[in-house]
Amino acid sequence: MSEQTVQIRTSGKVLQSPCGPIVHGLEDVLIKNTTISDIDGEKGILWYRGYRIEDLAKFSNYEEVSFLVLYGRLPTRSELKEYERRLKSSRDLHPATVEVIRALAKAHPMFALEAAVAAEGAYDEDNQKLIEALRVGRYKAEEKELAYRIAEKLIAKLPTMVAYHYRFSKGLELVRPRDDLSHAANFLYMMFGKEPDPLAAKGIDLYLILHADHEVPASTFTAHVVASTLSDLYSSVAAAIAALKGPLHGGANEMAVRNYLEIGDPSKAKELVEAATKPGGPKLMGVGHRVYKAYDPRARIFKEFSRDYVAKFGDPKNLFAVASAIEHEVLNNPYFQQRKLYPNVDFWSGIAFYYMGVPYEYFTPIFAVSRVVGWVAHILEYWENNRIFRPRACYAGPHDLQYIPIDQR
Ligand code: SDX
Repeated sequence: MSEQTVQIRTSGKVLQSPCGPIVHGLEDVLIKNTTISDIDGEKGILWYRGYRIEDLAKFSNYEEVSFLVLYGRLPTRSELKEYERRLKSSRDLHPATVEVIRALAKAHPMFALEAAVAAEGAYDEDNQKLIEALRVGRYKAEEKELAYRIAEKLIAKLPTMVAYHYRFSKGLELVRPRDDLSHAANFLYMMFGKEPDPLAAKGIDLYLILHADHEVPASTFTAHVVASTLSDLYSSVAAAIAALKGPLHGGANEMAVRNYLEIGDPSKAKELVEAATKPGGPKLMGVGHRVYKAYDPRARIFKEFSRDYVAKFGDPKNLFAVASAIEHEVLNNPYFQQRKLYPNVDFWSGIAFYYMGVPYEYFTPIFAVSRVVGWVAHILEYWENNRIFRPRACYAGPHDLQYIPIDQR
């Protein structure tokens, strides 16, 4: 949270209790200092390590951005080349992990991803070494090097896990990673078995840049909580994936496109938006944000890419047209204006993916493929000054009741 926004938003939902104020959903509660990313929610600005997301989207790629998020600075050309070599050499999975993914071929890919990350961690010898060291509270230079190596392996392996699940789910042969392809292009290659169209690869790369980190949303907070017990990086990432799955968080991109498909006609947008304004009505997926009270800068960037993508490949299901109509309704509806609810990163992200042939069940897994670098970077940052998370709850029940034998109840 940058100094400009140091005053806590008073709109936070504070519940009264006999023990004192309860900050519902930990809104605006600070859990640590960070130098990884910062958000100005009022102005709609996002920085990774001090660089604005617009510049990184325009000039960089996921390999370079993930190095920046993980190591805290932009790499030199030779550092980036060596980092890319390490990632490419780590893309393969342990055979047991492949079997776990195969066993879950019919499950939603987010379940398979959670399980695959846990399985890979169970068989990674570096992870066993780090677990043993953490067990005795040893986290020095050697262990830190292990931790960064594991972090890079997670960045390298998640695309393979997601692509392998897709292949198994379709009863297709696995497509092994190719070292001559970029992170994004190789992911699409492993998914579909052919080199991707350059604009599709660019779209995946842009998406990965935009989702790499975002301070401490629910999934990153979950990673912190698990890692704060000195559990391992794989287990912390598996837990973060479980948190990301929810429709209020990473699952919104899948739900947003399912809405657009269901509506199919821009003239019906008003009806959907109106329904979301009714008390107890369905939340409009891809709209609203706990921190942004302005248009999500990532959404603005990906909207332009989506426009370019449908200009080249068409919009046969009216997805971009429907999303544009919903956006117009939201931006002009007093209910959303009063609550400062704008399109967020999930509003536009699924349209191009859908037309690339990526089934919407894979949208959130691709979010995880990107955010894994944010999760591991935050864990490594927190481990520099670790303290186990242990909040309190205000007990509102009775005390010292007398135990009544069951036959007398
Ligand atoms: C991500 O935190 C991050 O950084 C997350 C993320 C990241 O990069 O990690 O940015 C990724 O998760 C983006 C968010 C994706 N989720 C969605 O698009 C789901 C739809 N959005 C909402 O569920 C909601 O906006 C949240 C969950 C995102 C934020 O919820 P908050 O901060 O708890 O807001 P709230 O529920 O207190 O809402 C305030 C008011 C309420 O109305 P009133 O009670 O004041 O009458 O706004 C309303 C809400 O009902 N509201 C919505 C709405 N979002 C909030 N009403 C209709 N549709 C919506 N989408």
